[in-house]
Amino acid sequence: MHFDFDTPVPRAGTDSQKWQKYAGRDILPMWVADMDFKCAPAILSALRERVDHGVFGYARPVKSTTEAIVEAMARNYGWAIEPAWIVWLPGLVVGLNVTAQAFAAPGEEVLTLGPVYPPFMTAPKNSARVSTFVPFVLRDGAWGIDWESLERAVTPRTKLFYLCNPHNPLARVWRREELARLAEFCLRHGLVLCADEIHCDLILDPALRHFPAAALSPEIAARTITLMAPSKTYNIPGLGTSFAIIGDAAVRARFVRATAGIVAEVNNLGYVACEAAYRHAEPWRRELVGYLRGNRDLILDFVARDLPGVGIEAPIEATYLAWFNVSALGLADPCAHFEKHGVGLSDGAYFGAPAGHYARLNFGCSRATLTEALRRVKAAVAAPR
Ligand SMILES: Cc1ncc(COP(=O)(O)O)c(C=O)c1O
Repeated sequence: MHFDFDTPVPRAGTDSQKWQKYAGRDILPMWVADMDFKCAPAILSALRERVDHGVFGYARPVKSTTEAIVEAMARNYGWAIEPAWIVWLPGLVVGLNVTAQAFAAPGEEVLTLGPVYPPFMTAPKNSARVSTFVPFVLRDGAWGIDWESLERAVTPRTKLFYLCNPHNPLARVWRREELARLAEFCLRHGLVLCADEIHCDLILDPALRHFPAAALSPEIAARTITLMAPSKTYNIPGLGTSFAIIGDAAVRARFVRATAGIVAEVNNLGYVACEAAYRHAEPWRRELVGYLRGNRDLILDFVARDLPGVGIEAPIEATYLAWFNVSALGLADPCAHFEKHGVGLSDGAYFGAPAGHYARLNFGCSRATLTEALRRVKAAVAAPR
């Protein structure tokens, strides 16, 4: 089957956060991480059928929805989970916040590696926990972990470690050895591991695969909260349907207790879309990944040929996010400058990078939109500053 990723779907004037930001201005939105593609036909038809049913009462997943996740984990990663391990959530950011509240007390520390998706740093602070991060290092053209600094960052108040795998914004897929070393680190320091694996089915490098951290060993499984969703991969984040997988009953009970009365339930349409995604949308996902790979290659060629002063320092192994080093342009506010030239990127400073050094471009869009966005980036780079 051949799916259409080429025809742009008009989103201006809709309820899209991404497009509303620049409403009425000629700025292409390449910031927040959703894609401009329609979701898989299999998901759309399941949703249509559910809408036609016409009743939208309080929802609870049917058995086949939960089983679709259990089967996907087995099929995709050889990870045997049980239905009871799944805790439904309306979003992964909710999961990060709940985890901080459940596993660290006020004043205690949540450690992570940065730059990273901003809620990794804000979630602990939302409830008076302390967020600390250890900067990644660039070694032989790849982003890596500074293990010595990581050891030094642990204090008696450190309780929790947030892992982003694959990593947003660095687009890095953590290797099995690296994950094993992180697991050993968490076990040795008695840390709970919260693994955000939302981008796990968007691996662009065919030589790489995703390893759920919790699947590494029974010891690490006993202290890991895995956060996942069909949202990024199948472009349904607006349906608010995610889940935590928590194998250990005591850890799960503590997590669930922290959600009580605050965390909203998942909705009827979200459950239906989730099941259709995992059961029927794999052919679409495969084509999507191929298309994103093409977009990535276009960006790499364009940056090398046409964007002097912009660097992509490491391979884009996963996600639809490109991390540009723009420090050589000498701009105090690179994103304001790019906006002036008609393209809206995410400011690297939000992810914890030094101000003025990095910008993130979302390439989850048609090739025509991407080509136009890159043309505008080129004009911005060439313009007087
Ligand atoms: C690593 C990561 N986690 C979580 C999210 C957002 O998750 P949700 O919309 O389910 O809260 C994003 C969105 O960009 C992300 O990149």
